[in-house]
Amino acid sequence: MTLQQTILQTLERAVPDLRVSADPADLTSYGQDWTRFAEPAPSAVVFPASTEEVAAIVKLAIEQQWALVPSGGRTGLSGGAVAANGELVISLDRMNKIGALDRADQMVTVGAGVVTENLQNFAADHGLFYPVDFAAKGSSHIGGNIATNAGGVKVLRYGNTRNWVAGLTVVTGTGKVLELNDGLIKNATGYDLRHLFIGSEGTLGIITEAIIRLSVPPVNQSVMVLGVPDMPRIMDLFARAQVALKLSAFEFFSDLALDKVLAHGGSAPLDSRCPFYALLEFDNEGDADEADALGLFEQALEEELCTDGVLSQSDGQAAALWSLRENISERIAPYTPYKNDISVRIGRVPELLTRLDAIVAERYPDFEVVWYGHIGDGNLHLNILKPQDLAPEAFKAACESVNEQVFAVVSDLGGSISAEHGVGLLKRPYLSHSRSETEQAMLRGIKAVFDPHNIMNPGKTV
Ligand code: FAD
Ligand code: MLT
Ligand code: ZN
Repeated sequence: MTLQQTILQTLERAVPDLRVSADPADLTSYGQDWTRFAEPAPSAVVFPASTEEVAAIVKLAIEQQWALVPSGGRTGLSGGAVAANGELVISLDRMNKIGALDRADQMVTVGAGVVTENLQNFAADHGLFYPVDFAAKGSSHIGGNIATNAGGVKVLRYGNTRNWVAGLTVVTGTGKVLELNDGLIKNATGYDLRHLFIGSEGTLGIITEAIIRLSVPPVNQSVMVLGVPDMPRIMDLFARAQVALKLSAFEFFSDLALDKVLAHGGSAPLDSRCPFYALLEFDNEGDADEADALGLFEQALEEELCTDGVLSQSDGQAAALWSLRENISERIAPYTPYKNDISVRIGRVPELLTRLDAIVAERYPDFEVVWYGHIGDGNLHLNILKPQDLAPEAFKAACESVNEQVFAVVSDLGGSISAEHGVGLLKRPYLSHSRSETEQAMLRGIKAVFDPHNIMNPGKTV
């Protein structure tokens, strides 16, 4: 009997009514995320509907020594949800219920399979706000966001997903169910295991439910896009904007990134094209806030920090400006980009930019290089685009040969080789640039506590 037949038969016998698929289309779709460097090849996909079913599957997996890959919306950019070696994929698609809003706590209990945008809409319907926001929100799951501690475009004001998780239900790699923190704001009873699961990328267990905090909505906001002559000047602009405005986002993108977006429609934000653009979102409650924004623009023009700018005059215009930044990832996806997602402390960004720019100019003379990212968080996305006639493997190898140089700079500046996308498969060989040997040994020790049989997403992250 093949591994696939054994898995299907064993699951059928042990967990009645469990939805299982070995349909080739499902195997392809559920065996990969947004990365395109590994061939999907899971044995089967299961769709549990409850924490109990998840626990039963994990117990069987221990008995049978099956490797499990937890699967959310599969929008990951590091290969964390890739199943390329006959693993059993556990999809949380069916665990997608949003509970009733607890008004006193301003919290809601959600299934791990709730799509991020559905939670945002739920919050808005109740006069509240879920602030974790990024372009994949229409597909990504809350469980996946928690497992990657997703960031996005509002981290500057609201922080990462971690800030909004008040409780978790998880099934560990031992098959045991843990209820962690239960919505408490204060809980000083030792190690907070909830935080170990946030960012654990499916390597410790499966998140099945979460208690999520919601926020009050922001006041009226505007968006300003400024054209900037070079990358280091964006940080000078940021320093001034932080003082002048109540910022909720400070993003940047290069002119080539804009080109790739405009190739699919839309119009350039400014009359002139500039090497780089900074996008600022800020509270605009009236004339005084608007005057501050215009004052910042004039000062920046005078000091040659920017050469042109536009301030949104309506929500529609603000959304159009945002789309120039938000659509980049999707528009460059057809080029099978090699993605670097790096961060350093804010004060070190100018040095990072100068040093990386030199490496990129020397090592990538023949490839298109697209810069963008959450520069106000110290997080840069450096994307190398694959030329059409180059095979993916050869392209990946070419980019990997530059990694040591890029990551050496990141490490020298005390930065991270994965700011928000996770380690997954793609960044695992480079972990020692951000985590010491001692730290990595401790990470492996923690994994052994929660997943002593090494069935949870083996080969990923640690
Ligand atoms: P998946 O890709 O399905 O899984 C990600 C990891 O989490 C895997 O290791 C998987 O095994 C694990 N996992 C999933 N569900 C569970 C669970 N229930 N329990 C345990 N482990 C689980 N990320 C950002 O941080 N900021 C951005 O701005 C951003 N923008 C993006 C824009 C686009 C267009 C795309 C495609 C991606 C973007 N991402 C961004 C990356 C991605 O969307 C996030 O990492 C997201 O949090 C992944 O969620 P998911 O549900 O798709 O997870
Ligand atoms: C973004 O900031 O657009 C996302 O992290 C996706 C990406 O890096 O491509
Ligand atoms: Zn990002």
